[in-house]
Amino acid sequence: MTELLRIDRRRLWASLVELREIGAYDDEATGLRGVRRLALTDADAEARRRCVQWMVEAGLQVRVDRIGNVYATRPGRDRSLPCVLMGSHIDTVVTGGAFDGTLGVLGGIEVLRTLNDAGVQTLRDIEVGFFTEEEGVRFGTDMLGSAVTAGRITLDHAHKLADDDGKTVKDELVRIGFDGAADERRPIPHAYLECHIEQGPILAGAGVDVGIVEGVQSISWQRLTVRGEAAHAGTTPIDSRHDAGLVAAGIVVEARRMCDSGEYGQLRATVGNLAVAPGQTNVIPHEATLTIDLRNPDDALMTAAEQHLAGYLEAVAAEHGVDIASERMAKTAVVAFDPGIQGLLAATAQDLSLPFVRVMSGAGHDAQEIAAICPTAMVFVAGEHGGISHTPREYSNPGACGNGIDVLANAVLRLADEA
Ligand code: GLV
Ligand code: MN
Ligand code: MN
Repeated sequence: MTELLRIDRRRLWASLVELREIGAYDDEATGLRGVRRLALTDADAEARRRCVQWMVEAGLQVRVDRIGNVYATRPGRDRSLPCVLMGSHIDTVVTGGAFDGTLGVLGGIEVLRTLNDAGVQTLRDIEVGFFTEEEGVRFGTDMLGSAVTAGRITLDHAHKLADDDGKTVKDELVRIGFDGAADERRPIPHAYLECHIEQGPILAGAGVDVGIVEGVQSISWQRLTVRGEAAHAGTTPIDSRHDAGLVAAGIVVEARRMCDSGEYGQLRATVGNLAVAPGQTNVIPHEATLTIDLRNPDDALMTAAEQHLAGYLEAVAAEHGVDIASERMAKTAVVAFDPGIQGLLAATAQDLSLPFVRVMSGAGHDAQEIAAICPTAMVFVAGEHGGISHTPREYSNPGACGNGIDVLANAVLRLADEA
């Protein structure tokens, strides 16, 4: 066994703490400092520039592609060989924490700093990157940058996506100076590795810091618009209403009933965004808009759940005399990660004497897109407070982060020396 690399945990932690300040806000619900760094906003731009600065300071060659993905290269001995790529994202949800995505990016930079310090030369190039709009909260489609890179979504389609204010991805890329020149369909890597916080309770429950990820479950996002009729709250008889709010409430309850029924396996359904209009105490809502997020580790059961939901919407619309329009926001199938890379990660964790468990990812990740173009796998890091995430309570301790990035570092080193 060759000597094992150990990253500089203090330096990694200092980077995480520094980046956390970009987009920091006071979260009323928790009383904590959170991170709000939606894709292609000024905060995201500042964080991007900070990461690029770290990359340059580490002697890396930085390039930006046409969807705003950023890659930094540490050259290997044979530049003709496909590189080993690490990456994740630095955009956050509206109420984000300091670790989701950023651990994989700052951890990747730390791996390359560690190789520099140790004077290690690798056979292959190693790259670290971050992908645009992984969260999907601003422009409505998650894993956007990596999906464009993998060819699932066209550049043109992605460029035209608009936020709630009508600002497009393309215009925002130009505005923040990350409308790069590199081809978004990047050279195919030898392998892709992503380290990410687990965002769930399994690792902590098992008493381990590290997880080897077997794959990612299917994700389905749609936006529903219910159109009924506004009328007086006091005078309109109950049985002659076309109440869009009532129908929306019924959809929320049905989504939960579907999960509880057990008919759709391990289905998870969430209505995370719901608004009624005109939004007045004494007016029956004429319109309700809501999003539905479905997750399922089984594609067939996901299809069955979507079909049931479509049937329910048709029936409830007829019952209440309303119209329901559905717009597809995102849909990805179950992705299985490469068994060989999973095995390498497991062997690496063992060599580092780090106990681990194998898990399926509940959250979406850029790795599920990049898996379409090269062998891919992920390392998970345990979180505290039950692994809670997408809230400022999200927290992984320095030891767990260091252990996860040590696994990443040594696995990447081995892949980068593969002939
Ligand atoms: C990404 O964070 C997701 O929604 O799974
Ligand atoms: Mn993430
Ligand atoms: Mn996230």
